[in-house]
Formats: sequence, C-alpha cells, structure tokens
Amino acid sequence: MANKIVIMGSLNLDTIIKINRMPVPGETLSTDYKANSPGGKGANQAVAAARAGSQTSFIGKIGKDQSGDYMLNCLKQENIDTAAVVYDDNVGTGAAEIFLYPDGQNSILVYGGSNQTLSVDEVDANAEKIAAADFLIAQFEIPQEAILAGFKIAKQNNVKTVLNPAPAQNINPEIIKLTDILIPNETESETLTGIKITDIDSMSQTRKAFAKMGVDNIIVTVGSRGAYYATKNADGFQAANKVQAVDTTAAGDTFIGALTAKLDKSFNNLAEAISFAQKASAITVQRVGAQPSIPTLKEITDYIAQSK
Ligand code: RIB
Repeated sequence: MANKIVIMGSLNLDTIIKINRMPVPGETLSTDYKANSPGGKGANQAVAAARAGSQTSFIGKIGKDQSGDYMLNCLKQENIDTAAVVYDDNVGTGAAEIFLYPDGQNSILVYGGSNQTLSVDEVDANAEKIAAADFLIAQFEIPQEAILAGFKIAKQNNVKTVLNPAPAQNINPEIIKLTDILIPNETESETLTGIKITDIDSMSQTRKAFAKMGVDNIIVTVGSRGAYYATKNADGFQAANKVQAVDTTAAGDTFIGALTAKLDKSFNNLAEAISFAQKASAITVQRVGAQPSIPTLKEITDYIAQSK
C-alpha cells in the first residue's frame, strides 16, 4: 500500500539562469538561457513523493500573487492534497534564482517570502491530517517553530518524522529529538557535527554525534558519489548511479521524496529505499529545472529495469 506522506515546506518560483561564471562586483555578464519553473525544497519533495506513488498532502504558504497561484496549481496537477496551503495577505510567494553552471552544478539565492510566515497555528490547524499520515517531512525553508509544532503532533500519533536540514542552519535541539530520520547532505552534516564525512569511520563518528543530539537514523548524501546511512542496527554506503548531469537542482529533494514513498515505517528496507531514491535522483539530474525534472514511478521502474 502506498505511504501517506505529509510535507511541510516551501514553494518557490525558480528562475534558472545559465552562466559560465558569476559576475564579479561591478561587472555585467549576459546569458542566453533563462527560464522559470516550479521549485522550493518542500514542494519539490512533495512532487517527488507523489510521482513515486505516495498519497501526498502539503502544508505551506503562498502570497496572493501570480506565482502563488501557479505554484498551487502545479501541486494540484500532481494530485497532491493542497487543502492546507494558505495565503499570506501581505508577503509575496517565495522565489529562487538558480545560477546553473556548464557542469550541472548550481548556486542558489532564495527569497523566503511567504514561506517564512508559516505559523505554529497554521500547522496546528492540520493536526488531523498529520496524525493520519505515515510520514511527515520538513526542511529548513520554513520557520523552525512551525516544524517543531508539526513534529510534536507527529510523534504523539506514531507518525515517522523526516528532517532535511537544508539550507544548513543551527537546529533547535527539541526538533532533532523528535526526528526519526535525518537526511542532510555532506556539507549540512559537517555544519551540524563538525565532522567531515570521507569514509565509513567518519560516518560512524557522525552517527554517534547525531545520536548524542537525539536522532539514531541518518542518511548523508554525498553528491554524485552516493549515500552513507546508519541506523542503530546497520550502516553502509551505497554508490550512486554514474550519469551525465546537466542540472543537479532538486536531486536531493527527489531523493527524499522518492525514499519516503518507498520506505517502510520500520526502516527495515532502508537500503532498498535508498537505492530506489538514487535511481530517481539520477533521472532528475539529467534534466533541467526542479519539478519538471522529477521522474514518475514508471520512469523510475523503467530505469531500474534498464540498469540491471
Ligand atoms: O533544492 C532545490 C530548491 O532549492 C530549488 O527548487 C529552489 O527553489 C531552492 O529552494
């Protein structure tokens, strides 16, 4: 049966600009490629979870503007339940400028906008929706107080919590104690623990550092190399599929959404779910844009069949 997933998070209208290098202060450079597409870490993760086959609901906030309506419609088109998406009367919808380099890497500048005004009351108003889910996912493009409120409801109702601490920032210790699985990338992990992950040993130290903070299950994604994972009973590294990346935007979001769609609440199939999520991300990085790049379940299963 498909997992029921609630995502609390951001919705951003992305503007993608291809560049060879960043202009230095005082310099003007031109580009021959600019495009808008739906993004935001939260919305991307919701789209990834929905396309991977889960029953998905979204809690978030948009402005009363064209991009807000556009972002909302994009989620609706994916059959994502958007009843918990609310409008801010004064603040505009979030936006991101994505500077895309020829090797597929990017630099991103985010305007939080209405994502940053999501309140505890607006989360609490959706207690029933959260309580009925298998998993609740959050990232750091919404206020931590809102995340804490959601995670409290989740833990009172046996809902597994997934925290993607992106963009990296100090975590309220109460949130981490309520987190069932933490999924940072290597930079975010190092920011939080001070430990650089280079091998299984450093991953084991990282696991201990996070366990001290209060979370036992972690997956640290290390870009095109793969993912380290550790639970109380198991740890390991799973190499990623080697592909020619054209745009790595939303690779991590795809990983988290697809992983959670596949993951059993016992976490017993963690390695299998990581492998599935890596295949989904491998497809995403071969296309330009955030949500337009995220694969459907059929695309993922076809890719798995081809790579056997
Ligand atoms: O993770 C990728 C996302 O980060 C982009 O879609 C952009 O909106 C930023 O939030």
